[in-house]
Amino acid sequence: MYAQMIKSEASQEDPEALKAFQDRIDAGSKIEPKDWMPEGYRKTLIRQIGQHAHSEIVGQLPEGNWISRAPTLERKAILLAKVQDEAGHGLYLYCAAETLGVSRDQLTRDLLSGKMKYSSIFNYPTLTWADMGAVGWLVDGAAIMNQVPLQRTSYGPYARAMVRICKEESFHQRQGFDIMMKMANGTDAQRRMAQDALNRFWYPSLMMFGPSDKESVHSEQSMAWKIKMNTNDELRQKFVDQTAPQAEYLGLTVPDEHLKFNEESGHYDFSEPDWDEFFQVLKGNGPCNTERLAARNKAWDDGRWVREGLLAHAKKKRNAAIAAE
Ligand code: 3HC
Repeated sequence: MYAQMIKSEASQEDPEALKAFQDRIDAGSKIEPKDWMPEGYRKTLIRQIGQHAHSEIVGQLPEGNWISRAPTLERKAILLAKVQDEAGHGLYLYCAAETLGVSRDQLTRDLLSGKMKYSSIFNYPTLTWADMGAVGWLVDGAAIMNQVPLQRTSYGPYARAMVRICKEESFHQRQGFDIMMKMANGTDAQRRMAQDALNRFWYPSLMMFGPSDKESVHSEQSMAWKIKMNTNDELRQKFVDQTAPQAEYLGLTVPDEHLKFNEESGHYDFSEPDWDEFFQVLKGNGPCNTERLAARNKAWDDGRWVREGLLAHAKKKRNAAIAAE
């Protein structure tokens, strides 16, 4: 329905302006906030960037869960820095979305009411310390796979935000892999924890790339506008090709009996995730959906006095400036 709406809006726009816009995209130009853009392009970006920003913010919760229980001071400092980076990513992305004419408050309201989505992966629980390794290695790994190409996306503020985000996500992935190496080469109990974390995070990580290309609603138009640079299935395959040898290096087993390198295609064959589970998570029925939204709503309510205090100060300064004129 959304894709149809975008198409019907496009049919009401000046065909010459639309063509000139598409020519700019095809020539590799960046679109900047003050440039003319089709309404569908603007809305698609707000949806994608907003959803991405929300993912960074909600994504702090499963890892924040382990800050007070990190096994050493060093691990605690690293995890704290990583979680703070995610908050920063959310803020750059909200700023990029604001250049499209939507306010951060509106986006936040749409997250808190459940109207806007965030990545499905953050509706899964983090049960052991090994999950911090699996999240960094697999979840940040999948995020980078998707975000490196987005540095070339057609919308300038989004592409530029992605450059710094990708640098930081690389550090996140490395720290996750480092935790997995320690656990996989540790005691029997640690190895079992590492394997268990891989078992639980493998398929949810594959789901991060979105539904199969056949089911993807937005890919075709988003790729024509270079809002997306690859299809969901292309990136999922790249992720499996990169990650399967890493699991082997760790001495861990990917929980997929069909995972096998295919000499002919030069890629790994693998089993599709359970798409029913994916769509259930999107509908709010994942293991932690309710908990995550409740936590964000509580943070918003608890922070009200800070917002009101800051706004009161800004208002006072503005009134004083007006009085001095
Ligand atoms: N979780 C939640 N919703 C998802 C999803 C996922 N993993 N994958 C797809 N969807 C939703 C889409 O939003 C869309 O729903 P909508 O129409 O209500 O918005 C629907 O499923 C159909 O999917 P499409 O393939 O048509 O959607 P897109 O073209 O938007 O593709 C995407 C989905 C690949 C995730 C794309 O939006 C994208 O590349 N987004 C930017 C990257 C991003 O958001 N990453 C979040 C990862 S987490 C992260 O970065 C935090 C880090 O710290 C780990």
